[in-house]
Amino acid sequence: MNVIATDLVSSGGPIRSPVVAVSGPVVLSDGTRLALRALRPDDRERYVRALRGLSAETLFRRFGGPKHRLSDSEVDRFLDVGHEGREAVVATDSPGHEIIAVARVAPWPNEEGTGDVGIVVADAWQRRGLGTILLASLLIAAAQHGYVRLRATSLVENRPAASLLRRHGFRCLSTSYGVSEWLVDLSGLLVVIEHTSPSP
Ligand SMILES: CC(C)(COP(=O)(O)OP(=O)(O)OC[C@H]1O[C@@H](n2cnc3c(N)ncnc32)[C@H](O)[C@@H]1OP(=O)(O)O)[C@@H](O)C(=O)NCCC(=O)NCCS
Repeated sequence: MNVIATDLVSSGGPIRSPVVAVSGPVVLSDGTRLALRALRPDDRERYVRALRGLSAETLFRRFGGPKHRLSDSEVDRFLDVGHEGREAVVATDSPGHEIIAVARVAPWPNEEGTGDVGIVVADAWQRRGLGTILLASLLIAAAQHGYVRLRATSLVENRPAASLLRRHGFRCLSTSYGVSEWLVDLSGLLVVIEHTSPSP
């Protein structure tokens, strides 16, 4: 089922996001049409292509340090989703269906109900509202999979990540050694459903 929400409210306050879909078509504010869907095992080549296209700075910010390439076993682990709380939502472009952004959640160790969030948007697609749409989509997916709170970490100098996380109700818990720790409580997540339709 596709779920399209018009309004999201977490315990941290309203999540200021445009129309949000867990899966299905989305339109950026500049009119560009994209699609959101879950990451699939057969995405390996698309996924590796997407990672290879990221700038050194974007990789550095995503992984909190220098990262030139992901090993095959790291790619295996990132593609290993759809079970045990490991979920990933991707945005694909049109008409090529290339992956241009990924947001994921996995269990935070030793903390029942808590997920660890990571997100990356391809350089050419940043600052167009895609991170906002994708993270809101991930929050809905995470709540649907039973998470009650989400954590994220970002480098202190990473202002886009701080803006994005704050916009989605995350609050900064601490900052040390150049890394900020973020938390959002999903227990009050309110999703106003505008439209539902069967998946194709
Ligand atoms: C963080 C990231 C996912 C944001 O994606 P995006 O598609 O650019 O995000 P949006 O266009 O929806 O913008 C989200 C917010 O970031 C702000 N922002 C985006 N790029 C920015 C930039 N270069 N400088 C300052 N602010 C910026 C936007 O103004 C917006 O703030 P607002 O909510 O206060 O209006 C993207 O920059 C990225 O992939 N960065 C590298 C990976 C990373 O840092 N991941 C987070 C840690 S896991």
